[in-house]
Amino acid sequence: MSTAPGAVATTTAGPGVTGLLAGIAATGRDTGRGGYSRALYSTAEQELREWFLDEARHRGLDTETDRNGALWAWWDTGSGSRQDAVVTGSHLDSVPGGGAFDGPLGVASALAAVDHLRSRGMAPRRPIALAVFPEEEGSRFGVACFGSRLLTGAIDPDKARNLRDPDGDTFADVAAAAGLDPRFVGPDPEAVGRIGAFVELHVEQGRGLVDLDRAVAVGSSILGHGRWRLTVAGQGNHAGTTLMEDRRDPMVAAAAMVQAVRDAALRHPGARATVGRIEPVPGGTNVIASCVNLWIDVRHQDDAVTAAVVERIHAEAIRAAAAEGCTVRLNEESLSPTVHFDPALRGRVGELLPDAPVLDTGAGHDAGVLAARLPTAMLFVRNPTGISHSPQEHVEDDDAEAGALALADVLQGLAGRE
Ligand code: GLV
Ligand code: MN
Ligand code: MN
Repeated sequence: MSTAPGAVATTTAGPGVTGLLAGIAATGRDTGRGGYSRALYSTAEQELREWFLDEARHRGLDTETDRNGALWAWWDTGSGSRQDAVVTGSHLDSVPGGGAFDGPLGVASALAAVDHLRSRGMAPRRPIALAVFPEEEGSRFGVACFGSRLLTGAIDPDKARNLRDPDGDTFADVAAAAGLDPRFVGPDPEAVGRIGAFVELHVEQGRGLVDLDRAVAVGSSILGHGRWRLTVAGQGNHAGTTLMEDRRDPMVAAAAMVQAVRDAALRHPGARATVGRIEPVPGGTNVIASCVNLWIDVRHQDDAVTAAVVERIHAEAIRAAAAEGCTVRLNEESLSPTVHFDPALRGRVGELLPDAPVLDTGAGHDAGVLAARLPTAMLFVRNPTGISHSPQEHVEDDDAEAGALALADVLQGLAGRE
């Protein structure tokens, strides 16, 4: 097994990250899309929650589920205080047809890091907690990092309760079915106030570490990113009886909008804009749609550029809709500004992992949302394919174990005795 840059060499304790991930390898496999589909509060995601709670209890950690559905597992100091905790964790939900590591790698590494620290005989000076945030991907209710937004008050609870999933079910109903009381979802200053620092380990979602030939990096920043929905309305009608010149077909307008999204991003170096989801209503082969929804993801390090790209998309969408006799409406679903991780915490993590390179990321994370309220940092683990949000995402076993050792070193440095 290789050792992370800067890690103190130690024997592997417990099953290791690879053994832990093997325990959930069958959960949520998507035979249709490939990879994993682990939507919030689906059977698969609920099984993963139980898996995490069992693994945490098995380690003697004190577990709780908060009123927003985040999971916590505490390694207390014995002082009775849960203030100034060092928290690590990630998420267990996935995008549709996602990889095995986006989220679960950080959760399994947190558990493995506890095993390492225990085998080193560490008694924490600050409480350590493992956390799992729900709906990081926003794949069910549309809002990225939904759980950490609820926790920190970055989303209005009424808006949250009324969000609908693709089946039309509200978050309030889905949360109630999952055992939460929807009246109490929303900002939880007490839970946030306990966290002194949050360190999230995550699979790298690009090629930075591959190109540097290194296993583990320290995060510097997260690109600003947001999601918008374009709703294009036309005239639903019969595919056989409606002459081409008589149509007001929102799907034709939507096709022009997809191109406009790409072209708007190309005007700004470094900008990314994507249409990854499109929904014709009602959606029938022999039906001219009455309406089409397109979901747009836009990212850039300069939030003003992100806004400019969206403005351009909107203008082009209005033009494309008018050309087909349709109308279009733009709605913002979530927006996260560019985040630079806390310099002091990042500096300390850099001291603890002196050989780890520093990388930024274009992917969103709960660490980015929490950064508005408390010091956060990230570690990235090499992904040899450089591909993510796809079944091709990968982490080699040695790198996974190196990541957990690096995380253990960071937790020891932040929460251990001098
Ligand atoms: C989450 O992975 C995102 O960047 O959308
Ligand atoms: Mn993730
Ligand atoms: Mn993701």
